[in-house]
Amino acid sequence: MLVGVENDILSEGLKRVQAEIDSVFDAFLPVPDDTSARLVEAMRYAAIGGGKRVRPLLVVSTAELFGVDRDAALRAGCAIEAIHVYSLIHDDLPCMDDDDLRHGKPTVHKVYDEATAVLAGDALHALAFDILADAGTSADPFTRSELIATLGKASGMHGMAGGQMMDMVADEEGVEYDLHTITRLQQLKTGALLAASVEMGAILGRVPPEGRTNLRAYARDIGLAFQIADDLLDVTGDEEKAGKALRKDDEQGKQTFVTLMGAEKARDQARMLVDQAIARLGSYGVEADMLRALARFIVERDR
Ligand code: IPE
Ligand code: IPE
Ligand code: MG
Ligand code: MG
Ligand code: MG
Repeated sequence: MLVGVENDILSEGLKRVQAEIDSVFDAFLPVPDDTSARLVEAMRYAAIGGGKRVRPLLVVSTAELFGVDRDAALRAGCAIEAIHVYSLIHDDLPCMDDDDLRHGKPTVHKVYDEATAVLAGDALHALAFDILADAGTSADPFTRSELIATLGKASGMHGMAGGQMMDMVADEEGVEYDLHTITRLQQLKTGALLAASVEMGAILGRVPPEGRTNLRAYARDIGLAFQIADDLLDVTGDEEKAGKALRKDDEQGKQTFVTLMGAEKARDQARMLVDQAIARLGSYGVEADMLRALARFIVERDR
């Protein structure tokens, strides 16, 4: 469980970043006065309010270790969150997980329609790279291009989209994943964007790749733990708190750590990963307390 102080640090951190990311999205998404307005309204509906903003908090907390300007870190956090929100809009479509509820409200395709949901996802995807390519994120073009390359890799075939494909194929007849394959699926589907969040904080902090080893290991561990926690929530969680429909993975033929090893062992595995992640931060002092608290939150969360 989260101990008192850790809990305070974390809820303060999440609250602050939630408000900040809402206002960054608000500024990036003015509704135009023509018939494309529907697109931006749908983007705003999906992007503003609701999410936990774990990825932006990872970016900001990592960047803070290296004294990065908070506004720059928030822009990078907003870029990752734009990719995340797009991935959720598409994930909920009838052709994917077919979900009607997200963040406690009807999904984008329910409120608007499928075409609008597809386009809102597309436009959020593009917005992410637009934000990173802008000099407001970093005055240094090398830093900007490293941010863009990192998010590009984490979102595409070797990251989130590749993992989503493996997840969709899992219910096909004769497809049986072993532990190694499920680990890879989860690392791509969810781990890649979480790892990119930490990586982008370090890039903004101009940490050379050889100085990122421990942070990368931390990110890999929490990335995997995060999806195990999501899969556990599907089995044991409370729909009201989670704000989405649960108990669907089994019925949809998803293959997860929980389906493979059972809830109890999966939870042990997630906790072990979190302990390991925290141990990776051994060379940092109190300045890394938010990253430690976030790691705990990732497995103990109820939403
Ligand atoms: C849900 O992610 C989808 C997964 C990648 C497991 P989050 O739990 O971070 O979603 P929100 O944005 O906070 O609702
Ligand atoms: C979604 O995983 C991961 C994404 C890349 C969006 P899930 O399908 O398990 O996420 P939820 O449970 O719908 O939030
Ligand atoms: Mg899914
Ligand atoms: Mg889903
Ligand atoms: Mg899930």
